[in-house]
Parts: sequence; C-alpha cells; structure tokens
Amino acid sequence: MSQPGQMWGGRFQGSLDAVFAAFQKSLPVDHVLAFADLQVNRVWSAALAQAGVFSRDELTKVHAAIDDLAAHWQRTGVPTNDPAEDVHSLVERELVARCGDLGKRVHTGRSRNDQVATDLRLYLRERVIAIRAAIAALCQALVEQADAHHDAPMPGYTHLQRAQPITIGHHALAHCESLARDHARFGAASERMDECPLGSGALAGTALAVDRTAIAAALQFTRGASHNSLDATAARDHLCELAFCCAMTMTNLSRLAEDYIFFATQEARFLTFGDAVSTGSSLMPQKRNPDAMELVRGKAARAHGALVALLGTVKGLPMAYNRDLQTDKETLLPALAETEACLQVATLAVRHAHFDVARCAAEAERGYLNATDLADLLVAAGVAFRDAHNLVGTAVNRAVELKVELQDLPLSEQRRLLPQLRGDLQQALAARTVLARRDVLGGTAPGRVRSEVTRWQQLLATWSLPKAR
Ligand code: ARG
Repeated sequence: MSQPGQMWGGRFQGSLDAVFAAFQKSLPVDHVLAFADLQVNRVWSAALAQAGVFSRDELTKVHAAIDDLAAHWQRTGVPTNDPAEDVHSLVERELVARCGDLGKRVHTGRSRNDQVATDLRLYLRERVIAIRAAIAALCQALVEQADAHHDAPMPGYTHLQRAQPITIGHHALAHCESLARDHARFGAASERMDECPLGSGALAGTALAVDRTAIAAALQFTRGASHNSLDATAARDHLCELAFCCAMTMTNLSRLAEDYIFFATQEARFLTFGDAVSTGSSLMPQKRNPDAMELVRGKAARAHGALVALLGTVKGLPMAYNRDLQTDKETLLPALAETEACLQVATLAVRHAHFDVARCAAEAERGYLNATDLADLLVAAGVAFRDAHNLVGTAVNRAVELKVELQDLPLSEQRRLLPQLRGDLQQALAARTVLARRDVLGGTAPGRVRSEVTRWQQLLATWSLPKAR
C-alpha cells in the first residue's frame, strides 16, 4: 500500500527500508523546484479540464488550492525535510489536503518524468536570468574602472614577464570581453533548452487529448512543445551545457582573480583591496590577504567537477528516464549557485580594488617595455626589422649592465649601439608615447580604450542588471 503522500505503492506490501528511503529522497535538493512545479500543475490541470478530466468548477477549485499553497509557501518557505519523497509528491499531498479528491486527479496522464523535466527547465530559465544579470553587474564594475583609468599606463605582461605598456582600462575591458562571451553562451544555452516536455508522459507521450502547443505557450516556452517523448524525458544535455557555461565562466573569473591577486602582491603593488574584501592573518599582524579573489579562483575547480560529473551521469544511460537522472540537480544546482555567488563577490572585489595609478605609471616606464618601440624607431630610420631586433637586444644588454632604462642610455652608448638614431629617446620611448602608437582597433591607445568604454556602456544598457535586493 502507498504511504501517505506517496505517489506509488499499490503493488507493494512492505515499506521501504529506512536507509534506502532516506537515500532515495530528492526533496532536500528539489524543493527549489516547488514554485515551478505549482506553475506546471496549474497549466496541466487546465489542460486536463480541456481534455474533460475536470469540469470548469472543479478546475477553479484546483487552481484555488494551488494558489493557496503558493501563498502559504511564500510565507513559510518550502519544507526541505518533510517525509515526502520528492517535491512532486509533496505538492500532490498538499493539494489533496486543500481540495480533496480533486487533488488526486491532477496527475492524470502525467508522469514525474515529464513533470520534473518541465519543472527543471522553468527553474533553470530563472537561474540563467540571474546569472546573466550578475555577469552584467561585473562588467559594469569593470567598465567603470576602465572609464576612470582609460589612459592610465601600467605594465602589460606575457609569460608574466614585462612586455609592453597597456592601460589599466584596457586590462579591465579584456576581462569584459570574455565575460560577454559567457553572457552570450548562457543566453544561447537557455534559448536552446526552452522547449516544453510536459505531455510526454513517462516516456511514450500522454494518452489524453491535451493540446501540447497550448501547454507550451502557457508556460512561455519560446520553442514550443518538444517533438519526441523519449528525448523529452531522458535528455539532460541542456544541463551539461549549462554546467559548461558555469565551468567556463568560473574559469574566466579565476583568471581575473589571479590577475588581481598578482596586482595586489607587495612585488607588484599595482592595487590594494579595500577592507570590505580583505582578510587578515590570525598570526601575522601585517597581513592583508586577497581572500575574496582566492576563493573565487578556488571554487572554479568545483564547477569543472560538476561538468565532468554530469557528462558521466548521462553517458551510457539507456532511453528513456533512469533514476540516475535524479542526481543531475545535486550536481548542477550548486554549480549555478556558486557561479552566481562568485560573480557577485568578484564584482565586490573589483569595486573595492584601488589602483595605485602613479605607481602603475612609473612601473610602465621600467623593465624595457619600450624595446619593441625602439626597434620600430630603427625601422623608421631604414633598418630591417630583424636587424633592428638584434641591435635593440644588444642595447638592452648594455642598459642592464649600466642599470638604466633604454631611454636613459648615455648619448655615447646610444651613438655607438644605435648609430642610425638621431634625437632624444626620452620622449619617443615614454610609456604614453608607446601607448598612443597602438592606435588601432582593439589596441591599447587611450583614445581606442575610450571608444571601447563608450561601446561597452551602450552594450550594457541593453543587458539586464540584477534586481535590487
Ligand atoms: N525525483 C525524480 C527526479 O528528480 C523524479 C521522479 C521520477 N521518479 C521515477 N521513479 N520515475 O528525477
């Protein structure tokens, strides 16, 4: 016999072993689907009325019960450790408590397999909206920083060796570019999964005369109803795709975090994190640690794990639904929540990162970041680039020996090593001159960064930001 609130049991005499009963429960995870489940119940019961299962009057009562339950849970929150096996059983039991036997008819022609697939798509749609808004907020913070520092020089690196000067703004917008791709990726994944499985039954489709197109429209699925009931109940590639979106976003956040952690070292001292995002050491009183960005970097690994776990869950599953799929939520939902949280914390860290503009500018003049430009000056004087490269390499060695920068080479050395050059190198090799010369689309010249800031401001005006809390 079925236990109270259990959706099956007619063929069973005994009850579940307590250990297995606890093990198979999904309510502790899937309670977050409760409001999506209520929405699905509302639309399904309307479809049942169309198919003749409920009269108009009965449907009104069922809808009233759904509304009452929704209002109740709005006040109290959805229970997470109720005896019910999963959120669908919990909702059914609560509806029966509110509208009696009518509640027992709501599951007519439906399976938890098409129900959970539909609930999940509705829930994920909302999560993606929130994550994309969090990406927008981070880009907003970076764009504001780029706006303030569009012409502020700092050293740029390759191989973590000083390479050429860039502007602080150019660096900030570089991270915006990868975040924009994450934003687009989440959007595309969300669009792709936006079709409605409801009416697919357990695997073969429902035997009731429901209008699946109308159901999909009522639940606002932009791609309409799914076209194969086996696929609709068994597919989880959209979860894998979202896990990849999380993994990639977290990887990009991790690179941003690493840059800022390096910038905050005593070795670089390009920025200081404000108290709001810094922590101290329990032992070393002088410490000021960039823990916010370190945690973001660390949590990226867990998002990667979720992707691998989901691919592994789906691989090798026969058509159609298998209970393995219940674990999909345990894997994906924390990855989505952590991605959103890391975006929020990274936004805070960027907002509380104070660049030492004077030091960044001074450091952009040190470490031979202008060597390429010196070679370019030789090229302008008629030397072939490869020869110019060699001549400047020799000049850098001499400057290292003399412990000076290229622009500070004594005139005698300059004449000896670079006889093709006339005139003062100070001006020609200053970081600001070097920056201004990268006046190409996508280059770091302050004017170019300025126009990119404008382009970004226009783009961000079209993105939704997080709702005020
Ligand atoms: N809780 C399950 C899940 O999340 C849905 C129930 C389907 N159960 C079943 N025995 N067919 O996947």
